[in-house]
Amino acid sequence: MTKKNNYDSIIKKAVNKNDLSEKEIETLLNVEGEQYKHLCNTADRIREKNVGDKVYLRGIIEFSNYCDQNCNYCGLRKDNKKLQRYKLSPEEIVEMAADAYELGYKTIVLQSGEDKYSADKISWIIKEIKNKTLDSAITLCLGEREYDEYEEWYAKGADRYLLKHETSDPELYKKLHPEMSYKKRIDAIYKLKEIGYQIGSGNMIGLPGQSLATIASDIKLFKEMDLDMVGIGPFVSHPETPLSQEGAGSLELTLKAVAVTRLLLPLAHIPATTALGTIDDNGRQKALMAGANIVMPNVTKGEYREYYQIYPDKICVKEEPDDCRNCIGGLISSLNRIPAAERGDSFKM
Ligand code: 5AD
Ligand code: SF4
Ligand code: FES
Repeated sequence: MTKKNNYDSIIKKAVNKNDLSEKEIETLLNVEGEQYKHLCNTADRIREKNVGDKVYLRGIIEFSNYCDQNCNYCGLRKDNKKLQRYKLSPEEIVEMAADAYELGYKTIVLQSGEDKYSADKISWIIKEIKNKTLDSAITLCLGEREYDEYEEWYAKGADRYLLKHETSDPELYKKLHPEMSYKKRIDAIYKLKEIGYQIGSGNMIGLPGQSLATIASDIKLFKEMDLDMVGIGPFVSHPETPLSQEGAGSLELTLKAVAVTRLLLPLAHIPATTALGTIDDNGRQKALMAGANIVMPNVTKGEYREYYQIYPDKICVKEEPDDCRNCIGGLISSLNRIPAAERGDSFKM
């Protein structure tokens, strides 16, 4: 028997008002059994009603695994001397983007560690990709950079920026990133929004030191920031980091966070994250049935995939872009959903 809580009234309020208090969110993050199933099904219905049955595809190019930061959870941290580092040339990046477009990706995500890849080169890459693929969207995921660089890239045609805040608890943020500033991170997200980018942010579930209250506050912050995209993935511990001894985040809790986020941000794009696909063979399918509506397959070619080891056992490291495209097409059809042919801009625009 599920213990008595006021689940029914909370779910009703979430559906009618698209808002909840942190305490109410915590109650939802605690549900089990029938209530858990009902929560996921409700989020699935709200997803269908607000953003439809199409699953939007974003092709990720992991173009450099150099990083100046030292996030305690991440395998790309600069103190991980065991990792072989690589950096693709602008020409290689543009070629991979054009090939991804041919495979049907109308959004290209340019992702790297906090490498100081030259701003001019990034500008050149954006212009070239836009010239070669007229109706594509470009998402930048390069970490924190200078405000004038964000402005320059937006002017050159970049459409979206993805900068996760990881946690809304400033103290936990400090513990995870001793050399970084929570305020600077949040300010950067608002700055990007002000410039005009469609904004993606998000968190990790199961971070050491995180409680359900922290996750509830993360979800409130997603709403307060009025995000266009929210990425929620489980923490997976990496052996070459200070958090090597910690356990991974749970599948169910991550799915509950996805579902509640869908209820509070009905129009957001929510990815079925690769990290979910890593901790559970059907993790991405389950997320797509609990509120998620996008997938972000890897379109990096060759051996580089193996070196972009944010966390261990990441899926798709041996595959090539066409393998992942076929796999993801099958995954989407198996759920009776439709791979979108459009670039999938924010539903809030
Ligand atoms: N487990 C899961 N996700 C991670 N990320 C970084 N390290 C890990 C990890 N150990 C995610 C963070 C970050 C992005 C680069 O990858 O959310 O924003
Ligand atoms: Fe670098 Fe990003 Fe990993 Fe932090 S999370 S170490 S900034 S790649
Ligand atoms: Fe890469 Fe399935 S998405 S193999």
